Amino acid sequence: MIPFIDLSLQQRRIRSQLEAAMLRVLDHGGYIMGPEVYELERQLSAFCGARHTLSCSNGTDAIALIMRAKNVGPGDAVFVPSFTFAATAEVVAWMGATVVFVDVLQNTFNIDPTSLEKGIQKAKRLGLRPCGVIPVDLYGQAADYDAIGAIADEHGLWVIADAAQSFGGTYKGRNIGTLAESTTTSFYPSKPLGAYGDAGAIFTENEELLNILHSLRVHGQGEDKYENIRIGINGRCDTLQAAILIEKLSIFPDEISLRQQVANRYSEGLGDLVITPFIERNCLSAWAQYTIKVDPEKRTEIMEGLKAEGIPTMIHYAIPLHHQKAYSHYPTATGTLPVSESLAHCVLSLPMHAYLEPQLQDHIINCLRNVVTQLGAKKAA
Ligand SMILES: Cc1ncc(COP(=O)(O)O)c(C=O)c1O
Repeated sequence: MIPFIDLSLQQRRIRSQLEAAMLRVLDHGGYIMGPEVYELERQLSAFCGARHTLSCSNGTDAIALIMRAKNVGPGDAVFVPSFTFAATAEVVAWMGATVVFVDVLQNTFNIDPTSLEKGIQKAKRLGLRPCGVIPVDLYGQAADYDAIGAIADEHGLWVIADAAQSFGGTYKGRNIGTLAESTTTSFYPSKPLGAYGDAGAIFTENEELLNILHSLRVHGQGEDKYENIRIGINGRCDTLQAAILIEKLSIFPDEISLRQQVANRYSEGLGDLVITPFIERNCLSAWAQYTIKVDPEKRTEIMEGLKAEGIPTMIHYAIPLHHQKAYSHYPTATGTLPVSESLAHCVLSLPMHAYLEPQLQDHIINCLRNVVTQLGAKKAA
């Protein structure tokens, strides 16, 4: 079986730099909040243009830290797309607030502004206080921040951009990390910019928020290490992960363009066969996933056909969150969320990483073409 995401090829490219970076940490011994952590934050700000960057333990804690800073709690409604990874909703539930699930758009897979409006009305009818929205940039493409920002302003909501999958991408010429008051990302190893363990970051323009986040990241500490002025968490990014990320960041712009080339090759090879990803004009996806839509009746057979050829595929995500056992008691913007429900049955992610060789990719494309054609599952012309 070929790897779904091959991290070894990237490692080979910068192995000696990674080893040197890790050895430097072993030599200075500052494993917690060592110099690399601050250097990474500086470089991430420079990369995306955010005023402030705060590194942290992972992409889930990143969202939780901001909500904690905003004192989100019982009675508050936070709007989250149903078609996302569980972490986005999980942190709202942690705060004791109410998740209100919103539908997504058929073409971009991202939060539907019309459904968001309906969710706000629904929350009010339920006697909840609408307080914030967490758009997700699914598979690497930014949500429509202009439309969401206008709704948020009208209703006094904060916006936390969950850019776990999209860091490195752009929206209308602006970098991910600068599109909302605060943005979070994940450096989980398989993300476009991935560490060799867990790590994440918060980007924000708001200095007051930043100061609170600094404290929350280290157990709510005050001026002194052992003074606790609020209840926080252990949310730091390890120095070793920061050292690794600095090396990976140096080749990240090149990798983003390599990912774009891989995406283009897929779209050219498959556009007439299945529904290939739609990217808005003036937006650049970070291509965390390359996800096609296929006939829901034939998806399992397509996956099996590819597996028989040694090609792995994945479903992101087979169950929308409002149908997941842990979340099914939370309200939805409308009775059903038809787009999230139908996408869950037809999406299929193909192997995607910056170092996918054209020859291997052509093999994947050809196998998919054969399997889909044999099954009579070609999209309608
Ligand atoms: C959309 C989304 N949000 C949040 C997260 C959480 O990130 P982490 O795994 O670093 O906690 C992920 C990770 O997969 C994600 O895909």
